[in-house]
Amino acid sequence: PMFSRRTFLQGSAALGGAFAFGAGVAARAVASPDPQILTAQFADVRISADGVTPKIMTYGLDDAPHGGMPPVLRMRKGEAYAARLVNRLDEPTTIHWHGLRIANAMDGVPEITQPYVYPGDTFDYVFTPPDAGTFWYHPHCNTLTQIGRGLAGVVVVENPEDPAFDAEIVLNLRDWRLGAGGKFIDPFKPRDAARGGTYGTVRTTNWQRQPTIEGPAGGLVRVRVAATDVTRIYTLALEGAAAKVIALDGNPVEGPFPLDRIDIGPGQRVDLAVRMPESEGQGAMLSNFRGSQPWTIATFRATGTSLKRDLRDIAPLPANPIAEADLSTAKRIPIDLTATAEHKATASICGSLGYTFWAINKVPWPGDTPDPIAPIEELKLGRSYVLQISNRTPHAHPIHLHGLSFRILTSNKRSFLPPPTDTILLLPDEQAEVALVADNPGDWVIHCHIIEHQKTGMTGYFKVV
Ligand code: C2O
Ligand code: CU
Repeated sequence: PMFSRRTFLQGSAALGGAFAFGAGVAARAVASPDPQILTAQFADVRISADGVTPKIMTYGLDDAPHGGMPPVLRMRKGEAYAARLVNRLDEPTTIHWHGLRIANAMDGVPEITQPYVYPGDTFDYVFTPPDAGTFWYHPHCNTLTQIGRGLAGVVVVENPEDPAFDAEIVLNLRDWRLGAGGKFIDPFKPRDAARGGTYGTVRTTNWQRQPTIEGPAGGLVRVRVAATDVTRIYTLALEGAAAKVIALDGNPVEGPFPLDRIDIGPGQRVDLAVRMPESEGQGAMLSNFRGSQPWTIATFRATGTSLKRDLRDIAPLPANPIAEADLSTAKRIPIDLTATAEHKATASICGSLGYTFWAINKVPWPGDTPDPIAPIEELKLGRSYVLQISNRTPHAHPIHLHGLSFRILTSNKRSFLPPPTDTILLLPDEQAEVALVADNPGDWVIHCHIIEHQKTGMTGYFKVV
């Protein structure tokens, strides 16, 4: 549907127009750098073998027309970054900086942290990323459509103290729901939304099908993988080269360990140190082993004469400054993930899937409807908390918390406990305790990153005051 600004303004006035946003953080950033211009726009791009897909959604840099994958945005830990979102779509949008612990007013959640950015309008984001690592950016409005049609880019936050690699490869993994002629089909099926989520029909890596990417023979390559699909959980393995896992969800692992198989769900990232094959032309294959048929995600092809490097040459990445919770004083908060009886959902400026199927602590909330709901809990600024998350469903749920990172303390389903994270892939019937310090004030949403689950009720928020 075409939305006009007027329709939206009338819409928001009817909600009471009580939202006063924005100026604070931007105004306080004294020396803000020149913003990168990120223009949300349509493009026609060949994704499937069947033809050009009309009207994918993408971000262009510096206001130029753009086709294909949104740019990889590079920032520096501890240095101010600025971006101006320009909306050239035909519906409202915003940008959420997934995993970045930044000020609440920059978090990109309409109705909660900022106003909608209507077609033709702009919004300025200014923040200083506190952590280095691999993150991503995407809208927080009509997300099944907007992320599903391509608005999902990788953020690399560099740290000058990171060990040097011979090359870097960034992989953005996602599927597309395309039918005949490469045209978009319905983004979901309600019966799948009430189960594990609806899968795409075309699988891509950097908007290509099974690309071959070159790297220096015998060299050490940092491979940053982001799972930006709205549904798919991957089980990654590499054949033909040795690799170590060096970071998960942006945060360094305390001791890098050899990559065997690793699961990443929607919203999650993994950083690998890959030792490229020894001789020119040799390939290593990154594959997905989840499901009945393994398939190749990308092939890394060695070029040039061997650099003769050794995986042991890579020192662990320096840790990010994430506060450790004080478990002796931490308050415990149960978080129950359940299926609910099906309800009709109310319409939303940011799109509604029409139903609710899921709930957090028995409250089904799609997250971006104007209906106000109470926070799951009010957290005291600076205090420690333990979330006791119970997945009372037979499906996996990648649960993402905005603005605060947490550490997994216990789980009835896993032996390896990863470094602090912003997204935990809860396995079916998993019960996990995660600890955090509520050190970032504001309203922070928590939701499943299988977008159909998020948009059909598996969303809530904490208020940190
Ligand atoms: Cu990656 Cu609330 O989102
Ligand atoms: Cu879910």
